[in-house]
Amino acid sequence: MTDKADNTTHFGFETVREDEKAGRVQGVFSSVASKYDIMNDVMSGGVHRIWKDAMMDWLAPRPGQRLLDVAGGTGDISFRFLKRAGRGHSTVLDITESMLVEGRKRAEAAQMSDSLDWVVGDAMALPFEANTFDVYTISFGIRNVTRPQEALNEAYRVLKPGGRLMVLEFSQLPNPMMQAAYDAYSFNVIPRMGQMIAGDRDSYQYLVESIRKFPDQETFLGMVREAGFGNAKYRNLTMGVAALHSGWKL
Ligand SMILES: C[S@@+](CC[C@H](N)C(=O)[O-])C[C@H]1O[C@@H](n2cnc3c(N)ncnc32)[C@H](O)[C@@H]1O
Repeated sequence: MTDKADNTTHFGFETVREDEKAGRVQGVFSSVASKYDIMNDVMSGGVHRIWKDAMMDWLAPRPGQRLLDVAGGTGDISFRFLKRAGRGHSTVLDITESMLVEGRKRAEAAQMSDSLDWVVGDAMALPFEANTFDVYTISFGIRNVTRPQEALNEAYRVLKPGGRLMVLEFSQLPNPMMQAAYDAYSFNVIPRMGQMIAGDRDSYQYLVESIRKFPDQETFLGMVREAGFGNAKYRNLTMGVAALHSGWKL
């Protein structure tokens, strides 16, 4: 048996022991939780909203569906899903409790608390029985997970037969010149904004580094198929700055 403590992985551009990564990731998101929503709007110029809406357009939520929103943070995806479905339920699971605390406040303000559960947990070991959910989403979460393949395997396990997976994540631009321009923006501007607005340069340095370490569209598509999903496809958003991956438990 492999001892996970002896294996290494990346935390941004740093190499760390696998058993250290989740704690470091929690440190980042605990530190940014209270400023997370505003920072998303500032860093992306509001574009993350367009990507999340594109995710909903492809997902086409239906009344009565049961969603599991993993790495759901402050609940952005769940709120959108429930509004589009009209009637349904979402379980928001996240490893960082302070992100969920911010989400709960939003749910109370929007009088949506009855349609939501908030669960602290790890995407790699979901505390749910097999065949439970109609839809599984993970938005800007999977690149932070220590072993993404295990998270995808868990997604497959907890979805009902006929259930749908949808992943929204930063990805790679196929054009090298555009990738260079995007890198210049993300490495020079985002950590500075993090310092100015959230008083936390290191967390935003991690965020941009973790984006560069995440597999490209085709490699990730292979991982979705490896987990067992059928009819797996992806769509680029903003020329590949982000991508949506979709799959079905057939
Ligand atoms: C960038 S935020 C995304 C939040 C939200 N889904 C959105 O799109 O705005 C990433 C979230 O992933 C969570 N996360 C990281 N690793 C995780 C893991 N192994 N299991 C569950 N959640 C995790 C973090 O705590 C954080 O809240």
